[in-house]
Amino acid sequence: MISNPPTKTSNLGYQVLADRITNGQITRIVVLTGAGISTSAGIPDFRTPGTGLYDKLAPLNLPYPEAIFSISYFTHTPEPFYAIARARHPGNLKPTISHAFLALLAKKNLLHFLFTQNIDGLEEDAGVPVDKLLWTHGNWKSQHCHKCHAEYPDDLMKNAIRAGEVPYCLKTECGAAVKPDVVFFGQSLPAEFEDRQKMAAEADLMLVMGTSLKVAPCSQLPRLVKEGVPRILINMEGAGDMGNRGQDLCILGTCDNGVRELADALGWRDELETLWKDAVDAKGDIKELEDGPTLDECIAKIASTMNDKMKISNGHKRMLENHLSSKFAQMMAKPPAQS
Ligand code: OAD
Repeated sequence: MISNPPTKTSNLGYQVLADRITNGQITRIVVLTGAGISTSAGIPDFRTPGTGLYDKLAPLNLPYPEAIFSISYFTHTPEPFYAIARARHPGNLKPTISHAFLALLAKKNLLHFLFTQNIDGLEEDAGVPVDKLLWTHGNWKSQHCHKCHAEYPDDLMKNAIRAGEVPYCLKTECGAAVKPDVVFFGQSLPAEFEDRQKMAAEADLMLVMGTSLKVAPCSQLPRLVKEGVPRILINMEGAGDMGNRGQDLCILGTCDNGVRELADALGWRDELETLWKDAVDAKGDIKELEDGPTLDECIAKIASTMNDKMKISNGHKRMLENHLSSKFAQMMAKPPAQS
């Protein structure tokens, strides 16, 4: 039995599971990934204190950090989302060795299914077949008006992202903000999720990588794995209930180191490195967006714009308040109307 508390790293655990894979005892691996597998590609995760996006957004004084991805906030204030869109857009990013590991699992016919919470599309860039994966939170490949759902052209969307400006629906009677087809808080997951989540119960190994398991319903997927089936967590920190079951193995560290170790135990290391290099080379020449401002620069810029707006609206508010109180004073000074 493999039993490791979440704070322990165990190569023995890796080797036991690796042997089960190579001798054909494990053939259906279900994977759940999150932002931590893309941090080495240059996209900060959300919740790591200090470096995560939500801490970085502090200068914007949002009502709460997730508001930037909340549909109710986006409806009236889409500017912050577009201000940082370029810095988080995957156009110029390359898949990591962790993404390549997932493609290698697929190549070896071991990937039963991949649930990714990431919207960067780097799994596909690495070579994971699209019929083997679900972007549970959508992706950047298409966009629609968030209100009337009219389609919006790709080239105009790219221009908007490049400029950091909000694209608006082309239908004159609508004119609402356009949103990439990513799932915001307050929106439903793709309909396919309902059916696909059953695949977690078909797993004979679950691999959870780079996620804090803080956002439902994906956070519940590891619980759907049958009791007695091994689950591996590769993450910088413990997450969810990973480590609570006797067959759990928690490897705390970077995803990239974790998959390299696993590949070593499987005897796949050279193949993995080659596959990764090929995937990076394949994306090497494609630059959808020329290099632009960093995330921190984008945030600083929108913070000052928003603060200016707040000053105008505060000033406006004060003016209205003064106007109303002088009107009230005038009204009170007058004798009541005679009937
Ligand atoms: P989080 O930021 O919540 O969690 C990322 C996890 O990855 C943390 O536990 C980090 O410690 C870990 N991590 C960071 N870098 C790592 C590395 N190089 N190697 C290993 N682990 C690393 O991101 P998610 O769990 O993906 O949703 O967040 C889930 C959802 O919350 C996102 O899809 C997004 C967000 O709000 C929406 O916007 C709808």
